[in-house]
Amino acid sequence: MVEPREMLSLIPHGLYLIGVQTETSRFIYTGSWLTQCSFEPCLIATAVRRTHEGHALIQKAGAFTVNFLAEGQLDLARVGFANPGDRLAGLDCKPCPETGAPVVLDALGYIGCRLVNWIEGGDHDLAIAKAIVAEQFREGEVLNIRDTPWTYS
Ligand SMILES: Cc1cc2nc3c(=O)[nH]c(=O)nc-3n(C[C@H](O)[C@H](O)[C@H](O)COP(=O)(O)O)c2cc1C
Repeated sequence: MVEPREMLSLIPHGLYLIGVQTETSRFIYTGSWLTQCSFEPCLIATAVRRTHEGHALIQKAGAFTVNFLAEGQLDLARVGFANPGDRLAGLDCKPCPETGAPVVLDALGYIGCRLVNWIEGGDHDLAIAKAIVAEQFREGEVLNIRDTPWTYS
């Protein structure tokens, strides 16, 4: 037998910058626990840690972007968890046309999402959101957590 956590660490995870914008605040964070969870409607589920600003802001805004990090974009991934202050200040961004949430132009592309359900969990809650718009800026593979020095499991 092994600890469940050891098996969980085998689940492949991409890395994303999750962006959120309310009337008064904006925030971006690096997220890895994210999956599609419905074909029709097209839904994604992502786990949002209770302790960071994004947790309240996503519920308030009712929307967010999932910006797909490309292989090798470790510096960009780091912006989403290591930078104090306004993490978006140094990033080339535009607002999502449907929701206003930040789109990171150096990413592979993004999905603009509207929150449809919020499920309380443990130290993370689950945001279920409809994918309403998407753009791919270039070809490439998503940065996999395995190809970084970081773990999140
Ligand atoms: C590799 C990695 C993956 C992460 N995945 C998630 C995630 O799926 N969900 C989440 O809410 N936070 C995740 N985080 C943590 C947030 O990025 C972090 O809590 C957030 O940027 C706020 O920073 P703070 O906790 O220092 O305020 C991850 C962090 C790292 C380094």
